[in-house]
Amino acid sequence: MYFVANWKMFGDLKGLNSLNDVIKFAMKNKRKNFKVIYCPPSTLIFPLFKKFKNTPIDLGGQNSHESENYGPYTGSINSKMLMDVGAKYLILGHSENRQSGENDRLINLKIKSALKIGLKIIFCIGETLKEKQNNKTNQILSNQIKIGLNGIKNKSKIIIAYEPVWSIGTGLIPKLSDLNSLILFIKKKFKNKSQKILYGGSVNENNINQLKTINSVDGFLVGAASQDAKKFIDIIKKTYN
Ligand code: PGA
Repeated sequence: MYFVANWKMFGDLKGLNSLNDVIKFAMKNKRKNFKVIYCPPSTLIFPLFKKFKNTPIDLGGQNSHESENYGPYTGSINSKMLMDVGAKYLILGHSENRQSGENDRLINLKIKSALKIGLKIIFCIGETLKEKQNNKTNQILSNQIKIGLNGIKNKSKIIIAYEPVWSIGTGLIPKLSDLNSLILFIKKKFKNKSQKILYGGSVNENNINQLKTINSVDGFLVGAASQDAKKFIDIIKKTYN
């Protein structure tokens, strides 16, 4: 199981000590079959890389420029730079970035360039409330996958994160039966039967007891609750209790 912490635009150097408990927990449970990945803002990747040295915890970025080369793009960071400071993973296609203008074609370019550099991708897909109400969910997910992964033959480095937009930061989660069938629907789109699919959207230390009952899910992408070390550890613990 994957437990991915998406810190979004939160976090600073002085807050990193709170992760000592997560490190302790991860070291103690090293042999268990779960993977913890922190995706902090880019400014904290390198400090965390040093902190997580010799631990099983991995790091990821939250977005990147689509060019794998350096270039005159003020304010941007590319995959090569993220990898240089210790990232192994990269979240792409997050709805917060889609809402500020990223489309499936741009996300496709970003995925291709990050794969070329050698990052593993956490590719976010999900429908808005309006799309859900109009029964468009399957179509939206199909399109996001089709265009986002267009031209990518080897998908072994891609993890899908199904994140309904209406669920992110709202405290709402899908009906478990809906979630299970959507994850199976997404899985069917991949030749590789072991394609990993995560769920994200308001995952917390309370609803994890329900969410963990979904057999088809391979882990969770956690936003707000991941900023609190205790809550994040609780989510992992409860998944296995
Ligand atoms: P949330 O965010 O857990 O705060 O809903 C999840 C995400 O945006 O990845």
